[in-house]
Amino acid sequence: MPIRVALIGTGNISVANHIPGIGLCRDAQVVALSDPNPSALAEASSVTGVTRTYADPFALLKDAPVDAVIVATPNRFHRDLVVAAADSGRHVLCEKPLAMSVAEAQEMVLAAERAGVRHMTAFTYRFVPAMQYMHHLVTSGAIGTPWHFRAQRFQDWDRRAIGWRQRLSEAGSGEVGDMLSHRLDFAHFLVGPMRRVTALTSQIWPTRVDEAGVEHVSDTEDWVGCLAEFASGATGVFESVKTATGYAGGATSRDFCEVNGSDGAVIYELSHPLRVLRAGKGGNYAEEAVPAEFRKIAGSPRNSEADAWQGFRYDQDFEFIEAIHLHRACRPSFIDGLRVQEVMAAIQASAVEHRTVGLEAHARG
Ligand SMILES: NC(=O)c1ccc[n+]([C@@H]2O[C@H](COP(=O)([O-])OP(=O)(O)OC[C@H]3O[C@@H](n4cnc5c(N)ncnc54)[C@H](O)[C@@H]3O)[C@@H](O)[C@H]2O)c1
Repeated sequence: MPIRVALIGTGNISVANHIPGIGLCRDAQVVALSDPNPSALAEASSVTGVTRTYADPFALLKDAPVDAVIVATPNRFHRDLVVAAADSGRHVLCEKPLAMSVAEAQEMVLAAERAGVRHMTAFTYRFVPAMQYMHHLVTSGAIGTPWHFRAQRFQDWDRRAIGWRQRLSEAGSGEVGDMLSHRLDFAHFLVGPMRRVTALTSQIWPTRVDEAGVEHVSDTEDWVGCLAEFASGATGVFESVKTATGYAGGATSRDFCEVNGSDGAVIYELSHPLRVLRAGKGGNYAEEAVPAEFRKIAGSPRNSEADAWQGFRYDQDFEFIEAIHLHRACRPSFIDGLRVQEVMAAIQASAVEHRTVGLEAHARG
């Protein structure tokens, strides 16, 4: 019997990632949809052919015969939907950032663990082949002891209106949750927990302008910079920007991650998903193709050679379904989402209070 999946929130990311991702899974099927926006619901219904649709997600959770739920709404709704889904016994994949606060994220972890359901946070960029291979290189000791971690996400979104993302009340943060959260997950994935962070944030645009020329208030940061110390003693530098003039946007703009180790170094760039740059001690970087076994996660049904740019995003839906079939934890889980939420909160506190913020409990794991 296939795993029956509901999509809650059928906007951009459900259409771009989750509908095709679940569509590729042999033993899963989207069977129900929910969105309060009739046009988003109609589009997802026409793409999937699914006619069991709900304006109210809680009605879906009450009525629809589904085993698993993907929550892809604005961040403000994640906690209530995830807790309700877990309480009703459904496995849950939730978009990032997991929640609006650490307390909410903790509640979500507890609800999922209490219910004994599978839980996953959509840190999509872990699934880029170059990041999968980088993870292998760093964690297998191929570059020795990691000394320095560096991540940059530069895009130029100019002053265009970005809907709920520019409202603190719906997003919880700006660039910190929107783009930096993925790179904080890279840091955990590659180097481990952090001990303390010192951060600055900056807001360039107090209003953003929609297609009709109407200005809408924005109260979220457009830029974040952060220094970090890992529990291992390694150092980290992060910069994530929506107003990086010169960098355009999307998958080809700068998404860079580097680890310098005692014996070598490695660089990931989203703009080159099928290669890393690698250097030995004392040497310069040279290109290295991602080996075949890292081009998709084990067992993934997709053709990794057909679509290097979009296809890796479908592996996260495969991972969710596979974990349900195999009764094992998802990678990454809500616990990974909670750990990122803790660092996000420390970064926000550091930026507001102009101080270094410790993550000692976090670093002890
Ligand atoms: N993993 C990634 O790479 C990635 C990329 C983009 C967005 N996201 C995350 O995905 C989530 C959605 O982002 P998006 O870009 O698709 O936004 P979006 O605005 O395109 O879509 C969100 C949809 O949720 C619907 N919605 C609002 N309230 C709802 C509710 N209570 N119940 C059900 N549906 C509701 C909206 O009508 C809209 O159609 C956010 O958490 C965002 O951070 C993740």
